Amino acid sequence: MRHRLFVTCPLPPSVKRLFTAEFEVSFAGESRAPSASEILAGIVGHDALVVSAPTKVDRALIEKLPDGVSAIATYSVGYEHIDVEAAKARGLAILFTPDVLTDACAEVALLLMLGAARRVTEAVDLLREGRWLGWSPVQLNGIGITGKRLGIVGMGRLGRAIADRARAFGMRIDYYNRRRLETSLEGGATYHETLESLMMVSEFLVLACPATEETRGLLNKTRIGLLPKGAVVTNIGRGSVVVDEDLADALASGRVAAAGLDVFDGEPAVCPRYFDLPNVFMLPHIGSATIETRNAMGQVLVDGLRAFWAGNPAVNRLV
Ligand code: DGY
Repeated sequence: MRHRLFVTCPLPPSVKRLFTAEFEVSFAGESRAPSASEILAGIVGHDALVVSAPTKVDRALIEKLPDGVSAIATYSVGYEHIDVEAAKARGLAILFTPDVLTDACAEVALLLMLGAARRVTEAVDLLREGRWLGWSPVQLNGIGITGKRLGIVGMGRLGRAIADRARAFGMRIDYYNRRRLETSLEGGATYHETLESLMMVSEFLVLACPATEETRGLLNKTRIGLLPKGAVVTNIGRGSVVVDEDLADALASGRVAAAGLDVFDGEPAVCPRYFDLPNVFMLPHIGSATIETRNAMGQVLVDGLRAFWAGNPAVNRLV
């Protein structure tokens, strides 16, 4: 018997082919994410709900899912949009896509650092608006990253992949993590027991941590005030980690020289002040957006669901 998936997010054609080669699939989120009531109406007769980060799967929705549904699969590495406890209580498995986004997101973290430090927003605007008058020694001088100290908040797979790449730029790595890593994983990076201590040395700061109650508003006015003057701040984790008004104030005053942001609190809304700040280099959450990564995410879910329904352990099963 082929299991049936109810998919609520758009997927690249190659990923759709992966899904349909293995399962019977209803694609319901092509143009927009379906509402909870549309999901409940459409999912009858399916075995799994497939969502992605923008679709909230809260307790109310989980409690109303038909009994035939045995799994929720999210086409994302983040799972803060799913009420994990409610799913557990209903005996539903949750599958997600760990690890396969790491390289793509680490690449974009470096892009954010370089884009912010090298004033790419101003440079692109100058060129595209036809205002460029030719090379000048005083034009758009930015900040070099070679030899600088990089503070990484969150030294999971993503943080470590960023560190590997930053070392190639001659950066010295400092990090904060809930637990200190084993020496073999540290790669010579310096561990800080507190965020405050990390902030004090971070000429460049990368936020690479997930959205949790603990990380909400982690980068606030007080901690920004501890950064070296003229630091560069980047966020490849989740928007909720930053207090936008505090960062915008620091960017406006020059206390923070520049910011590179790929994620925003309340996406797709973006703190309007960022648009008026030329020292903000912004991307619309494209960290994982490569076709290689999208295909790998699809394969991980297909493999995980197959294993789950065969009664085997799935490496990407959260609960
Ligand atoms: C993820 O997979 O969590 C990406 O950030 C998309 O939300």
